[in-house]
Amino acid sequence: MILILDLGGKFSRYIGRSIRESKVYCEIVPYYYSLEKIKAKNPEGIIISGGEPNEIVVKEKLDKEIFNLGIPVLSIGFGSEIMVEAFKGKATIPAENDYEYLKIKVDKDSLLFNGLDEELPLWMNEEYAFDVVPEGFNKIANYKNKVVAIEDEERKLYGVKFHPELEGSDEGKQIIDNFLYKVCSCGSTWNMDEFVSESIKEIKARVGDKKVLCALSGGVDSSVAAVLVHKAIGDNLTCVFVDHGLLRKYEKEQVEKVFRDEFHINLIVVDAEDRFLNKLEGVTDPEQKRKVIGEEFIRVFEEEQSKLTDIDFLVQGTIYPDVIESGMDGKVVVKSHHNVGGLPEDINFELLEPLRQLFKDEVREVGRLLGISSDIVDRQPFPGPGLGVRCLGELTKEKLDILRDADYIYRDEIKKAGLDKEIWQYFAVLPNIRSVGVTHGERTYKHTIALRAITTKDAMVAKWYPIPLDLLEKISTRITDEVEQVNRVVYDISNKPPATIEWE
Ligand code: XMP
Repeated sequence: MILILDLGGKFSRYIGRSIRESKVYCEIVPYYYSLEKIKAKNPEGIIISGGEPNEIVVKEKLDKEIFNLGIPVLSIGFGSEIMVEAFKGKATIPAENDYEYLKIKVDKDSLLFNGLDEELPLWMNEEYAFDVVPEGFNKIANYKNKVVAIEDEERKLYGVKFHPELEGSDEGKQIIDNFLYKVCSCGSTWNMDEFVSESIKEIKARVGDKKVLCALSGGVDSSVAAVLVHKAIGDNLTCVFVDHGLLRKYEKEQVEKVFRDEFHINLIVVDAEDRFLNKLEGVTDPEQKRKVIGEEFIRVFEEEQSKLTDIDFLVQGTIYPDVIESGMDGKVVVKSHHNVGGLPEDINFELLEPLRQLFKDEVREVGRLLGISSDIVDRQPFPGPGLGVRCLGELTKEKLDILRDADYIYRDEIKKAGLDKEIWQYFAVLPNIRSVGVTHGERTYKHTIALRAITTKDAMVAKWYPIPLDLLEKISTRITDEVEQVNRVVYDISNKPPATIEWE
């Protein structure tokens, strides 16, 4: 097992994914994790991620004794600065945050660069360097005349100024693999088949013949969690799916088909459309809408739960990135919208979170192994408040139906064009604008539909996706032909920032 000490940047997640892809189990823990806890985990190696330079607190709180545990350490970026300083060395901190692929000369005799070329393209800030290399360390890479990687072969301590973990760098991946396999002698034993069979055993042992409840949203995480738990305990699982009237077209039917018909899971579908729309009447402020939807969801769930007796466990589709976010000492705050559609805080159940060790792509793999169809497993993200954040202004059934129809056509055409896996997220928006148009010589005054399509790695920064013009025309024509109340279709070409992915 590899332990990643997270210094607060977004890097640790990339490191984690890269390690898991190499079939090695890893966990991410915060920089202030105590030495005792680190020892108790008994890792085969430690990786200290990059982070925000100059963070005095991080430097103070990270226990430097980790370098004396006899456990191999790979320190990256800011992490390597902490390491050299612990050995009385010195590193330059760049003034600007400019990174690019630079040609770096490496020492092929070092285990870290084993099997690689002598000159590698690696992602680095060209200002970065080790100015004073501590005693006992060798220089193993340089950029121009600057030292950018060091090693203490005997103690197995490595420091690099470049970022090998970033996606798309084969050389970087090889460097991480060399650390895992050659320096730490890890075996590639982490695989999803084993995870599934072990989890089923664990759930069986923990739950026994007690009863379990699951709030199913139809999204990837709760769906996979539900099917996994069902494999372990069968009919002792009951799933509750709330139709709040803000779902996409045929979404409820799809959930019923998959969970009730295919997997034979006890499924309660609550038709709460009227109830939600009544509560939302006259509400136009986006945050207020979210609040009303979130609160009403809790009420509905509580009511359903009170009808069931003897429930001991509640399944949650928590996944590893949620765990990391909430575990970082208030530094990384869980986005407020994660709580929308969340559950009451005072529920008196034990939590069952079978996916809490997994990254999203691993959850998808588990879903595939469990036989869940691609329609669910490869689903794009869909916000908890559903179409509530895509239908601007007051939410009415009429407007939501228009949006549902247009969105369905849009998704259908994207899928037919084979772009559904390539575009990270795409959906229609009803901006609540009516404009003048003409149909069969008659003046019309109808709704506008906006189309959004983006690509991103982590939803923090996103780029609009250039859908081919002929496809856009086809989508636009179909929407205006088939959705009676729409006479205009526009395409959103804004990146995030300054826009967000959703319109509200
Ligand atoms: P934004 O609009 O903030 O969206 O750029 C980033 C990602 O988060 C999703 N999103 C939500 N998910 N509840 C959710 O569960 C919400 O209220 C919510 N708002 C945005 C959005 O779809 C995108 O993937």
